[in-house]
This record gives sequence, C-alpha cells and structure tokens, in this order.
Amino acid sequence: MQSLFPTSPSELSDADLFELYAYPVERQWVRANFVSTLDGAVQGPDQRSGSLSSPPDHHLFALLRSLCDVVLIGAHTTRVEGYQPVTEAEMRASVRADLGLAPVPSIAVVSRSLRLDPELLRGGSARTVVITTGAAPADVRADVEALATVVVAGEHSVDFGVALDALAGLGLQRVLCEGGPTLMRDLVASGHLDELCLTLMPRIIAGDALRLTHGEALAPPADLRLRHLLESDGELFCRYART
Ligand SMILES: NC(=O)c1ccc[n+]([C@@H]2O[C@H](COP(=O)([O-])OP(=O)(O)OC[C@H]3O[C@@H](n4cnc5c(N)ncnc54)[C@H](OP(=O)(O)O)[C@@H]3O)[C@@H](O)[C@H]2O)c1
Repeated sequence: MQSLFPTSPSELSDADLFELYAYPVERQWVRANFVSTLDGAVQGPDQRSGSLSSPPDHHLFALLRSLCDVVLIGAHTTRVEGYQPVTEAEMRASVRADLGLAPVPSIAVVSRSLRLDPELLRGGSARTVVITTGAAPADVRADVEALATVVVAGEHSVDFGVALDALAGLGLQRVLCEGGPTLMRDLVASGHLDELCLTLMPRIIAGDALRLTHGEALAPPADLRLRHLLESDGELFCRYART
C-alpha cells in the first residue's frame, strides 16, 4: 500500500499502518470499518461482505481488530456472517501488549431480539457483551445473562450514548464497529461515530444489495473529512473523521 493523501512516495509497512490507524487515547473513540463496491454495495451476491473483500482489505480488517478493545456489531451481521469470538491467533500480540490492550478484543453485539449464536455468547478469551433494550424478551435475556455481559441501553431501540458509556465503564475505549448498515445508520444518527474507514473496491455489481447505512434519512446529514487515502492495486482505503 502507498499513501495518496497525504502523499508518501514509499510502500507502507505494517508499522506505518499501525501508526496511521492509531486510536486517540484521550477519550473513547468509535471507528467503523466497511468495504463497498463503487456502486455502493456492502453485500456480495451471497449476502455476505467477504465476497467483496480482497487480501489487502482483509489485511487492514485484521490490523484494525488488533488495535481495538471491542468489536461492535449488529446482530444480523453476526447471524449472516457466522461471527465468533476473536481468537489470539488473529491478533498481533506484540502490538496489543505495547498498547496495553487485552490479548483479544471483546465482541459487543447489538440485538433487540436476542437471537444470537450461543458460541458467540459464550465468548473466548474475552467476554462477549450484549447490548439490548428493555423490551427484549425477558426469558431469553435471562439465558443470555448466564453466558455474556448484558447491557440494557434504551427501551425499544438501543441508545448508543448509554451503550458506549457502559462499554467505557468496562474499560472498552477503542471501539471498532464492523456494521452492518442498520446498526451503522443508528450509530451515525446518535452522533457517536468518530471515524469511518472505507475500502472502495473498483467493482460494480448492481442488484439490490444494502449500502453502508440502512434506515431513515439523517437530518441533518453527518459530514466527514478525509484524513488519509491509501491505495493498493486500484483499491482505495479511505479514512474519514467527523468534522
Ligand atoms: N461490507 C461490509 O463492510 C459489511 C459490514 C457489515 C455487514 N455487512 C453486511 O450487511 C448485512 C447485514 O446488515 P443489516 O443492516 O441487515 O444488519 P445489522 O446492522 O448487522 O444488524 C441489524 C440488527 O442489529 C440490531 N440492531 C441494530 N440497531 C439497533 C438498535 N438501534 N436497537 C436495537 N437493535 C438494533 C437488531 O438486532 P435483532 O434483529 O437481533 O433484534 C437488528 O435487526 C449482511 O449482509 C452483512 O454481510 C457488510
């Protein structure tokens, strides 16, 4: 990868990338990471995102995971993509140790229905967090509480201010939201998204795939500013931050 903005003549090493994507440390920071086609699709024909990805995108996906305390994810994406707890093998142990991070990030899954894979709930080296609403089915909630940490944030829809405060209370400051579009729309609407990392794949697929956000239009819209732009084989890796 090389940097197009700001300009840099040389190939970026992983050490450069870790520096470019370092989280601010003064406060909790919410970063989202998505891959999209040129025509805005965030799902491939198989309804998953992996079919849109590439080795450099996958490399960056893993690198961003290595820098975070918690992966924030919508329940539907966990069901479609078969999300499981993050393993130590996926992580750069030395990077995490240098930053004082736990060996692996937790998964924090946002769900109203609580229809979640028990293996995901059971967690791995890190305990899984479930962020839900007061209206979630009480009997299922009791079962979930036996396996994972449950945060109730809001009555009918998750209040991301409350949810993120709860994550901060658990020591989870560096947040990496991996989608999907329904969660992303509500997160942006809440005003708590700090940064968007967007991989733009030079491909057009048409069809009726979801785009980066799904849900009611935002008024006013959320404006972001380009912080850097990397390139590899025609793929663009954009990093935007809230203005
Ligand atoms: N290209 C990419 O980078 C990328 C990234 C992520 C996902 N995706 C794709 O996106 C698709 C899934 O996206 P999606 O929009 O359908 O689902 P999603 O955002 O992953 O999950 C939606 C679900 O999350 C819960 N949820 C979200 N916001 C909530 C809120 N404010 N309050 C309470 N619960 C809330 C609900 O869970 P319950 O249903 O359990 O109540 C809701 O049905 C998949 O095809 C996936 O592959 C692509």
